[in-house]
Amino acid sequence: MGKQTNKSGSHFGGEWTIQKLHIIEEYLKAYATVLKNQKIKKIYVDGFAGSGTTELKHDNRKNRDNNTYIQQSMLDESNNSTSSKTVQGSALLSLKYDFDEYYFVELDQNRISDLKNAIKLQFPQKYSKVHFIAGDSNVKILEIVSKITVYDRCLMFLDPYALELNWKTLEAISKCCVVDLWYLFPLSLIRLIEKQRKISESNKHIVSSILGTEEWLDELFVKSEQINIFDEDNDDIYGRIDYESILDYIKSRFATIFPYVSPETKILRNEEKNSPMFMLCFMMTNTSQRAQQLASTLVKSIIKSTEKV
Ligand SMILES: C[S@@+](CC[C@H](N)C(=O)[O-])C[C@H]1O[C@@H](n2cnc3c(N)ncnc32)[C@H](O)[C@@H]1O
Repeated sequence: MGKQTNKSGSHFGGEWTIQKLHIIEEYLKAYATVLKNQKIKKIYVDGFAGSGTTELKHDNRKNRDNNTYIQQSMLDESNNSTSSKTVQGSALLSLKYDFDEYYFVELDQNRISDLKNAIKLQFPQKYSKVHFIAGDSNVKILEIVSKITVYDRCLMFLDPYALELNWKTLEAISKCCVVDLWYLFPLSLIRLIEKQRKISESNKHIVSSILGTEEWLDELFVKSEQINIFDEDNDDIYGRIDYESILDYIKSRFATIFPYVSPETKILRNEEKNSPMFMLCFMMTNTSQRAQQLASTLVKSIIKSTEKV
């Protein structure tokens, strides 16, 4: 959805990437600070770790006074109307904060190698704490969560490009009672849910594997008021509910398996078209009311702070 690729085949990011990384870094910082003196194992899991860096395309004509984070993050300058810049991605950002173990899962071998090299160079003292895991997150995360105990605390970030994360993986995470999770939910899913209920079987299958149910076909469509009895079985008479209600439905799906799902989310938009690309969602498996209250206040204030980013 509006993403371009650079010469190496990676996707270019934009201002939405800066907002995403800002939220993750602020939460990493707060999480590590709160747990600083507690005698528990602190674990960070990055399920779609990338290469360590992200290339951004930036419109130099925009008023940069409003964008201090970009100004600080950019590694080079250009007089052209657009330029590409490189910033640290989520895996490298996490190494700035104190965790006992880091798990970086990545499907692409070249990106894992780049990530290893970047860590050797920038965080050599942390290298021995990192588990580099090559493979599909939908398999590898199941193995990681099976090792996490109630005496640990785990912060996890799932940042797929698109529709790569299966519901079954979320289910496995939700059963591990010490996880705080940020999930960058791909709103490209909504394009598969056409406005009239004429959806191909393959698209139905994809949507169900992401939402973990087939009930969405009933929940996301309403019958037109002007129908006659002979039309009852015709998909044409069903119209899709409005966009906001679909977003609420997605959050309500998470709430079927996570004890806490933040009502506050950050919608990340393609800045050229202003179209929604992702919904950055927070959820946690901790059932303590106090922990949920603390996280809720923090998440709200971090999301609000992206207005200045
Ligand atoms: C959006 S990028 C991650 C960016 C990274 N979080 C950052 O901030 O730099 C998504 C990454 O997921 C990887 N990927 C795609 N499908 C995957 C899968 N099934 N399991 C693990 N990694 C996958 C891609 O190779 C890509 O590097």
